[in-house]
Amino acid sequence: MSTPLLSVRDLHVSFKTEDGVVRAVDRLSFDLERGRTLGIVGESGSGKSVTNLTVLGLHNPMFTTVEGEILLEGQELTTARESELEKLRGNKVAMIFQDPLTALSPYYTVGRQIAEPYMKHNGASKKEAWERAVEMLGKVGIPNPRQRVKDYPHQFSGGMRQRAMIAMALVCDPDLLIADEPTTALDVTVQAQILDLLKDLQQEFGSGIIFITHDLGVIADMADDIMVMYAGSAVERGTTDQVLRSPQHPYTWGLLNSMPRLDSDTGARLSPIPGAPPSLLNPPSGCRFHPRCTFQDRVAGAGRCTTERPPLATDRGSACHLTADQKRTIFIEEIKPRLG
Ligand SMILES: Nc1ncnc2c1ncn2[C@@H]1O[C@H](COP(=O)(O)OP(=O)(O)O)[C@@H](O)[C@H]1O
Ligand SMILES: [Mg+2]
Repeated sequence: MSTPLLSVRDLHVSFKTEDGVVRAVDRLSFDLERGRTLGIVGESGSGKSVTNLTVLGLHNPMFTTVEGEILLEGQELTTARESELEKLRGNKVAMIFQDPLTALSPYYTVGRQIAEPYMKHNGASKKEAWERAVEMLGKVGIPNPRQRVKDYPHQFSGGMRQRAMIAMALVCDPDLLIADEPTTALDVTVQAQILDLLKDLQQEFGSGIIFITHDLGVIADMADDIMVMYAGSAVERGTTDQVLRSPQHPYTWGLLNSMPRLDSDTGARLSPIPGAPPSLLNPPSGCRFHPRCTFQDRVAGAGRCTTERPPLATDRGSACHLTADQKRTIFIEEIKPRLG
């Protein structure tokens, strides 16, 4: 087997705060292959953004402890020097965020902000880089790019700024693109356009994409594989088909049950998962989901969920003490009929 594009092994990320140590990511492992899209889903606060900011080395080393391995094409990033990470960011690895204004400076033209990383990483001349900026703006569907490239971000609409940020992220053909809730703030039509654009660009550039969202509908549309995160860990993973058609973890069942039905016009929301995500200052013992789980009493061995942390396989599986048979039957007999 060839080396994965990205390989994260046993990652732990914690923050020192006034209230104590926040264990934001705990024992997380996953792989991403070239040309594939990994969707990461989970409620807000589950560690999706922290995981990916850590991959990019964008954490504050003063307050953050990172343990484990992050291998990009075999190169270890957790111990890489800032100057090496600097070389990778925007070149081999790029990121798009929910809010384009975190990535775009108000003081420079859109063109300059797309051209600059291209000059820096490709040694292109100013003129070449400017031409490339025009080309990229056209690629992301900005009309009249030769004119618009001279605009400042505030002269763009929200959807156009999002496109400009994507142009900036893709200008150096990154091998790895991390998209963190890139369409959450956009209306449905623009969202659909941006998602199509990302798919097209992936076809063209063959990048591996990590797509973070709390929207299972978007994941179904975008991802080849899914990793479900809860309280800083992965609780289930598999291909998109496997996870959405035969989910195995009670938390995934809860997520599916709480999302609007794909086939309903009314957008009727089913029941939310009872309770709230735990504090990561003092996470629950055993399975972190146990305080909210209604299936504990079906697990053989009393109290096992509160004491023993269930492991997760690296390809397909779920971190839950229910047997494979129980997971299958409970889903088919009790969960699926409610999803309609
Ligand atoms: N710089 C920080 N200092 C302390 N806690 C943080 C910091 N950044 C994130 N966290 C905490 O880490 C957890 C995971 O956050 P995050 O990765 O942003 O969640 P998600 O992206 O899944 O919504 C949250 O509990 C959040 O409050
Ligand atoms: Mg986030």
